[in-house]
Formats: sequence, structure tokens, C-alpha cells
Amino acid sequence: MSQPSPYTPGEIAHDVPGRADHLDRVADLLAVMSTRRRLAGRVHVFVGPRGVGKTSLLREMQRQAEDAGHASVFVTAGHGGLVASLVESIGLGPLKWRPEALGARLREMGMSVGVPGARVEATFDRAPDPTVVRRLETVLRAAAAEAVEDSRVGTVLFIDELQAGDRDGLRALAYAWQHLQATPDGLPLALVCAGLGHTEDVVTDAASFAERFAYRPVGALTEAATREALSAPATALGVGWDMDALSEVVDNAQGYPYFVQVHGDAVWRAAGRPDPGGRLTRAHVQQARDGVHDDLEALYRSRWAKASPSEQRFLSAMAGSDGGSVRRGDIAAALGVPTEALGMARRSLMDKGLIEVAGHGLLSFTVPGFRGFLREYADLGEADG
Ligand SMILES: Nc1ncnc2c1ncn2[C@@H]1O[C@H](COP(=O)(O)OP(=O)(O)OP(=O)(O)O)[C@@H](O)[C@H]1O
Ligand SMILES: [Mg+2]
Repeated sequence: MSQPSPYTPGEIAHDVPGRADHLDRVADLLAVMSTRRRLAGRVHVFVGPRGVGKTSLLREMQRQAEDAGHASVFVTAGHGGLVASLVESIGLGPLKWRPEALGARLREMGMSVGVPGARVEATFDRAPDPTVVRRLETVLRAAAAEAVEDSRVGTVLFIDELQAGDRDGLRALAYAWQHLQATPDGLPLALVCAGLGHTEDVVTDAASFAERFAYRPVGALTEAATREALSAPATALGVGWDMDALSEVVDNAQGYPYFVQVHGDAVWRAAGRPDPGGRLTRAHVQQARDGVHDDLEALYRSRWAKASPSEQRFLSAMAGSDGGSVRRGDIAAALGVPTEALGMARRSLMDKGLIEVAGHGLLSFTVPGFRGFLREYADLGEADG
């Protein structure tokens, strides 16, 4: 018998070590909301680069909310209109135990919703239209009320990839939330989101008044959290890490959660998927090295392939400069264009999660090692051209 890998490269993490502060913050928000039976006015938005663990964090928060007796809805923005997705998920989510009730409530509001598989009229998502805002507000109120009637302590909406939401949808959501804040009592409802680093810019573009949204960075794991992320899943299966092997992998993973999983998984397989009582050793780490290198190379290549030719030139120029973060002006100079000409490529590369703002006028790559990859790979590209 051999045990399958407990590591989760590219999948939701089973556990999220190192994120206790974020989890506590949301747990407190929900506790106050349900005790006072009122809207959690503050909207938390957890922001960070691709692969840092935002979705895993949100899913853990959802599990904890459900355990605490809340109803929950989870939406990933970017597939169709945000408002339609929200309404559809609400129809399938906390209210699914009483579909007739939701159907009746929504019909009262003049919306056609076939539940289950709630289908919202196409016109519903046409904004800016004050009726869209009012209807979204009504659906949110109805959801919260139904959940209370079903003896849930509150309702929590989770939105992942918030930065991918359509402008009208983000606007409608911000307006609807503002309206709910005007009469918060008896409405135990909370909104918790996650998105890429520039989510605040996107939301502010859509609704400049959305100051109730509080942005919290999700960053690299500390060394202690990385150790825990590697050792706990093995321990749970009765397998131990040799100290020196663990330290080496902790160094290699650089606190980047996706790397933690790729490395852990590779070492586990190199050790022959050990049985209880087994050990992960430095020899296994050595053996895993080539496989890890290939996995990371594949990741970098797929990210590179997402960039258009002009974005690839942008990335190459960025990789050409030394240091962790790069001045926008230096990229423009390397490309021989004025700084303002970079705007579109810059935004598009942020939307694709390849680069992020690293301070005023500064940009950096989001994945460790991407610069090194580009220096080899992009050079070849230039030699061709
Ligand atoms: N706290 C954590 N400790 C260790 N590994 C983690 C942690 N959180 C997430 N991971 C792992 O990191 C990888 C990325 O996780 P996740 O998909 O949640 O990130 P993300 O920020 O949502 O990425 P994306 O922006 O691509 O959607 C996954 O392999 C996941 O198992
Ligand atoms: Mg995600």
C-alpha cells in the first residue's frame, strides 16, 4: 500500500497555515454581525498575486462560516455579469431548501427566476440602471431574511476574483451595499471578497465612493507557516520529514504557497508515496529536483504565453532591469516609448496576474523566479526577432 500525496499543487489547500490573522478578522466580523443581527457594513477584500492562496483562504472562511451556523454563497467573478452570477448563486445557495419561497419573493419583484438553475432575465444586468441596484438590494435582503427564517445566524457572500467583475456589476454591488448600510438592522449579511493586487483600482474605477471596502494584502508565507504547510499534511499520514530535507524545501519554496505544494508533492512522489512510518529525506529532495524544475518551467511558459506580443516586450524590458521592482520610467526607456504609452499593457498584465504595483511608479513580477525564466527565455525571443 502507498499513500497518495497530501499536497495540493494547483488545488484548493486543505488547510491554510499562516493565515490566522485574516481568518480571525472575518470570524470577528461575522460574530458581531450575528450577535447584533445587523449588516456587516465593512466589506473585506483580500488581495494578492496569483497562487498566493486567496481562493483557499476564502474557502476556509466559508467552511468556518458554515460551521458557525451561517448560510453562504460563493461566486467567482468574471464569468458573465456579476449581478446575474450573484442572483443565480443565491437562488441555488442558501435558499435552495425553500425554492418556492425565493421564487415567490423574486416574482413579486418582477424578476423571472427559474429555480433551481435560477435564470435571470438578460435585462436584469443592464446598468447603469437604478432598478438593477434596487433589485440586487431586494434579492440580498430576501436571501438574508430567508436564511434567518431557516434558523441560520446570518448570510455570508463570498466573491472571488473581484477584479474580474464587470464594471456595471461592481458598480451595482457597491450601490446596493451602500443602500443596505442605510438600514442595517435585522439584516445579518456580510460580504467577503478576494482579488488580484490591483482590485482596489478596479473597484474605485467602477464606484469611487466604495470606501467601505477594506483591502487586506495576502502575502508570502512566513518560514514557520511554510514549515507547517509542509510538515502537517505528512504528519497526518504518519510520515515525517528529516530536518535538513524540510529546511531545504522551505528555502526553495520562498514562502510562495503554490511552490510549497509543488515541492511537497514532488518530494512525496520521489519517496515512493510513503506508508505510515515513512520518512522524507534529502535524497528524496535531490531526486525531486528535476521534476520540480519542469513543473515550474511549465508554469512560467504558460504565463508567458498569456501575454500578447507587445506585453511580452513589456515583460522582457522589465526582466532586463536589475533589482526586485522596476520603475515604469525605466521600462518605457527600454522600449523607447513615453511612460504614458505603457498604460494599456500594464493594466492588461495586471489583469492577467503577471505583474503588480510595488509602490509608487514601481512594478514587480508576481511569481518568484519569473524574472530568471524571462532572462533566458525572452532573450531567445529577441534573438529571433
Ligand atoms: N496557506 C497556505 N499554505 C500552503 N499552501 C497553500 C496555502 N494557501 C494556498 N495554498 C496552495 O497554493 C496554491 C494556490 O492556492 P489558491 O488557488 O488558493 O491561490 P489563489 O491566490 O487563489 O491563486 P489564483 O490567483 O491563481 O486564483 C494551491 O496549490 C494551494 O493548495
Ligand atoms: Mg484563486
